[in-house]
Order: sequence, then structure tokens, then C-alpha cells
Amino acid sequence: MSVLRILFVLASLSLADLTNAERVLGAYIFQRHGDRTAKAWPPTKLTSLGYGQEYMTGTFFHDRYISSNSSYHIEGISTDTVNLAQVTASAPQDDVIETSGEGFLQGLYPPIGSVATETLRNGSTVQSPMNGYQLIPMSDVQSGSGSEDNAWLQSTSSCNNAKVSSNNYFSSNSFKSLLSSTKELYQSLEPLVNGTFSSTELNYKNAYTIWDLLHVALIHNSTTTFQPSSLLTDQVMQELFILASEHEFNLAYNSSDQISAVAGMTLAGEVLAALNETITSGGKSKLNIQFGAYATFLSYFGLAGLHTADETFSGIPDYASSMAWELVTNDTGTGMPSTSDISVRFVFHNGTSVEGSTHLQAYPLFGQSTLELPWAQFVDKSKKFAVSSQQQWCQACGNTNGICASTSDDNGGDSSSSSSSSGSSSGTGMSLGVAGVIGAMVTLGVLVGLLVLSMFIFGLRLVPKSALASIHRASDASTTPAMKTTLA
Ligand SMILES: *[C@@H]1O[C@H](CO)[C@@H](O)[C@H](O)[C@H]1NC(C)=O
Ligand SMILES: *[C@@H]1O[C@H](CO)[C@@H](O)[C@H](O)[C@H]1NC(C)=O
Ligand SMILES: *[C@@H]1O[C@H](CO)[C@@H](O)[C@H](O)[C@H]1NC(C)=O
Ligand SMILES: *[C@@H]1O[C@H](CO)[C@@H](O)[C@H](O)[C@H]1NC(C)=O
Ligand SMILES: *[C@@H]1O[C@H](CO)[C@@H](O)[C@H](O)[C@H]1NC(C)=O
Ligand SMILES: *[C@@H]1O[C@H](CO)[C@@H](O)[C@H](O)[C@H]1NC(C)=O
Ligand SMILES: *[C@@H]1O[C@H](CO)[C@@H](O)[C@H](O)[C@H]1NC(C)=O
Ligand SMILES: *[C@@H]1O[C@H](CO)[C@@H](O)[C@H](O)[C@H]1NC(C)=O
Repeated sequence: MSVLRILFVLASLSLADLTNAERVLGAYIFQRHGDRTAKAWPPTKLTSLGYGQEYMTGTFFHDRYISSNSSYHIEGISTDTVNLAQVTASAPQDDVIETSGEGFLQGLYPPIGSVATETLRNGSTVQSPMNGYQLIPMSDVQSGSGSEDNAWLQSTSSCNNAKVSSNNYFSSNSFKSLLSSTKELYQSLEPLVNGTFSSTELNYKNAYTIWDLLHVALIHNSTTTFQPSSLLTDQVMQELFILASEHEFNLAYNSSDQISAVAGMTLAGEVLAALNETITSGGKSKLNIQFGAYATFLSYFGLAGLHTADETFSGIPDYASSMAWELVTNDTGTGMPSTSDISVRFVFHNGTSVEGSTHLQAYPLFGQSTLELPWAQFVDKSKKFAVSSQQQWCQACGNTNGICASTSDDNGGDSSSSSSSSGSSSGTGMSLGVAGVIGAMVTLGVLVGLLVLSMFIFGLRLVPKSALASIHRASDASTTPAMKTTLA
């Protein structure tokens, strides 16, 4: 080989290093809500501070994934005007979480100003409200409805086995020993919280809500409405936080009884389905954002083995924390590469992300050593705990009534043909609206079942005409549409 040729090879190598070849093909974000009022005083509300945190974090993600000059720009994603086929947002029915989502989305796709101005047939021009504010629909996810008004997420879950499993913590030895060793600490807080907690409630059993009340008061209450006194030093607050984290982590995850982590199991199924959709659709869908609560983070951290690699992962993540799964490749071609060239990278940031300060960092999943996990490996490892269908959920949860009454024995849960209870509390919000469109039909039960099914698994994206059409067709021919119709 001539010297010249060697030099050429070296030059092209360093050029390749300089122009980072990585392409980001898609991403799934799970985002915690922002600062809110105390759980002990429901109904909880998102505060202005919390709204700001979500907006800032949304702006951060705009700068990472949407902005055309970002090195993490998702290939082909619309840079100014949102393309609703590319972006999917979902949240449980919960005031704090849904409004957080709205704040985040405002930052993700900010107003487009005069670009949104329309000229009508009659020649007059129409200005879009709020300087071209962009509207991004948010679909429902089943798990976690009303979670911010409840002390513990599982009390809003309908998964029977998960409730039992989480509650097992209260009879464990580690719980009992902390209950007694921390008794004095909690009792000493009485003068500070006696307006909210009675003396009998002041113990480790309420570790999270007690810490939460004090945490909120230290952020929001004026010095006249709340005087922490010498009692509440930083050190005591830190101790209360560590106890609250221990309490919540143990409810969210138990290595010898996986079902307590049902929130993380369901999320893993949703992430798999969404990233797979990005791949199989050739990149038609690109970015998914789900809004939720800290317990889902903790469940996923436990399942993915993050807490064993780094114990900060067993601490409650701050308001507006984000985790994301990025679909990346070093393939230099265009279009969707083959799955063997695609990897998944997990990133997390504890608290509000702001450009220029500390933000997302990559962490290895499943106890691996690499930050980028080949797609096939990611699928394989995730499937060990992911809940991907209604049938799988019913089985894991041991539920046999409501939406589980009619689970068929078909794989994939895509043929629940018999009627499911239309009175199922979990589905009524959505089913009523659709029921009005369909009218009084004997197939209502099937319809509700299908909607609840798809809401549960993917977070519903209504595509009213086609979805309804296929449901009509389905009930006529007594077959049912594939679940993917709701993903269109
Ligand atoms: C990226 O583009 C935006 C808008 O064109 C600009 O405001 C921003 O400064 C650019 N950022 C970088 C890192 O070049
Ligand atoms: C043009 O049409 C819009 C919408 O129908 C109406 O509000 C507006 O008054 C019309 N303008 C003129 C000049 O007729
Ligand atoms: C975890 O689950 C096992 C099996 O159900 C139970 O014995 C144990 O007490 C649980 N541990 C905690 C900390 O909840
Ligand atoms: C709570 O305790 C403080 C200090 O002991 C006392 O001043 C206050 O009246 C008590 N409030 C209630 C509602 O009992
Ligand atoms: C904070 O203030 C609110 C009223 O503004 C009050 O209800 C609440 O009890 C206070 N929190 C604490 C911990 O004192
Ligand atoms: C991805 O989607 C394709 C087509 O729907 C399906 O055959 C495949 O099993 C899915 N893979 C995963 C990992 O879900
Ligand atoms: C988040 O930060 C807090 C400190 O503010 C820490 O105690 C906790 O462990 C962190 N949680 C995670 C998941 O990193
Ligand atoms: C792409 O190449 C860079 C530099 O060699 C490497 O650090 C990174 O892990 C690769 N990414 C993927 C997805 O393989």
C-alpha cells in the first residue's frame, strides 16, 4: 500500500469521526409531571412552577429531537409545524399529569406565528389564536388515572395481583423494622403537620405523603403559614426523603415478585410496540411521549436492573424528570436500515432538563456494559417482563372480570369476540363518546372491549372513520380488526 493511500485512508477515517455518523430514527419519552400541590390535600393541582418545568423540558426536547441543527434530530421529523402522524402523546386521566403534558408539548412544538395564518376562499385572512399555538391531541392510557390524587399509584390500578404484591411489603420484616426504628422521628414532626396528620398516622407507613407535604410546604408556603422551626433541618428532610424513597421503591418493585412492577411492565410493552412501529412503518411514526408518575419510573428502573448498577435509581426522581429510549443507527444509507443495524439507547435525567445545564445521560440497561443495545437484544430482554397484550395483562394480574371477563385464548389478545362488561369503570369515559356515534347497537359490548383493549395496550389514538369502519366490518363478519388499526 502506498504512503499516499495510507494517508488517504487515515484522512477519511478521521473525517468519519468528525462527522458523527449516528442517525436517530425515533424515540419514546416517559415524562414525569411538574411541581404540584401536596397529595395530602386532593385535588392536587399543577403549579405555575410545575408548568414552567414542563415547558422548559419540552423546549429542551425540541432542541434535541426536533430542531434541524441538533445532532440528535430525529431523521425526517417535521421541524416547525407538527406532523400529527409522526408524534403521539398520551397520559392517564389525571389533572396534574394531563396539564403537565400540555405544558411540555407547548415547548416541544412552540407556536409558529404567521405560518399558521390562512387565507379563505373569500379572500379574508385568519390569524391562528395565540400566535399560532399548535394543538397536539393526547390519548388516554389506562394505568395511573387519578394517580396524583392518591397516595399510591397501585390504588388506582385495577391489577389485582399487583395490589396484593405491593401490599405484601407491609408485612415484610424490613417494613416492620423501619416502622419501629423511625417511630420517634415521625412523631417528632407532629407540631409541623398536625393540621393534616393525626398522631396515629405519623409513622413510616405514610412516609411518602408526610415527606411530600413538607416538601411542598418548603417550596410554596410563606414563612407565616409554615414555620419549619429548628426541627426540620436539611438533614431531617434528607432522611425523610430517603425513607420515602425506600418505601415507594419497595411498593413499585420486588425482585422476587415481579407483578408489583406492573406499571413498568406495561410501559415496557408500550415502548416495544411504539419503537417497533417506527421500524416497521419505515419511520412514519417517530416520537412517542407518555406522561406519568414517579412510581412508573421506579418500577421500570427495578425491572431493567438500573438500581443494582447505580443505587440513585432507587431514589424517587424529581418533578419533570425524563427517561427516553432512542432508536439509533450508524448505518450510512437513507431510509430505515435493517433491524440488525439498529440499536436502542436509554437516557434519563433527574428533574427539569434545560439546554446548557446537566441533562440527559445514557445508562446501560439490563446490567449490560454497552450504552447502545442491538434491537434484537433489547426486544429479547424487554420481553422478559413486558406486558404487550390485554390477555397477558389479565393473566399476570389474575383479573377475570371487567375487561378480562372475555379474554380469548388466542395469542395476541386480538379476538375478544364475546361481550365484555360495558359497565366496566375503566372504559366508560371513552366508550360513552363512541356509543353516541354508533347508537344503540348490540355490538356495543364488543366495541367497548376493543377500545379498552387498544387504550390499554397502546394508549388510544382515535382515527375515528377508519377505526369505526373496521369495527363495523368486524361485527358484521364476526371477526375482529387487528389491534394495529388503532395505531395508524
Ligand atoms: C439551531 O437553530 C436555531 C434556529 O434556527 C438557532 O436559534 C440555534 O441557535 C441553533 N443552535 C445551534 C446549536 O446552532
Ligand atoms: C369570509 O368568510 C369568513 C368565514 O366564513 C367570515 O367570517 C368572514 O366574515 C368573511 N369575510 C368577508 C369579507 O366576507
Ligand atoms: C417480596 O416478595 C416476596 C414474595 O412475595 C415477599 O416474601 C417479600 O416480603 C417481598 N419483599 C418486600 C420488601 O416487599
Ligand atoms: C399543632 O401544634 C402546634 C404546636 O404544638 C399548635 O400551636 C397548634 O395549635 C396545633 N394545631 C392543631 C390543628 O392542632
Ligand atoms: C401550607 O399552607 C396551606 C395553606 O396555604 C396549609 O393548608 C398547609 O397545611 C400548609 N402546610 C404545612 C405543612 O403547614
Ligand atoms: C413488530 O411488528 C411486526 C409487524 O407488526 C411484528 O411481526 C413483530 O412481531 C413485532 N416485533 C416486536 C418485537 O414487537
Ligand atoms: C434524584 O435526585 C435525588 C436527589 O435530588 C436523589 O436522591 C435520587 O436518588 C435521584 N433519583 C434518581 C432516579 O436518580
Ligand atoms: C456508532 O459509532 C460510534 C463511534 O464509533 C460508537 O460510539 C457508537 O456506539 C455507535 N453507535 C451504534 C448505534 O452502534
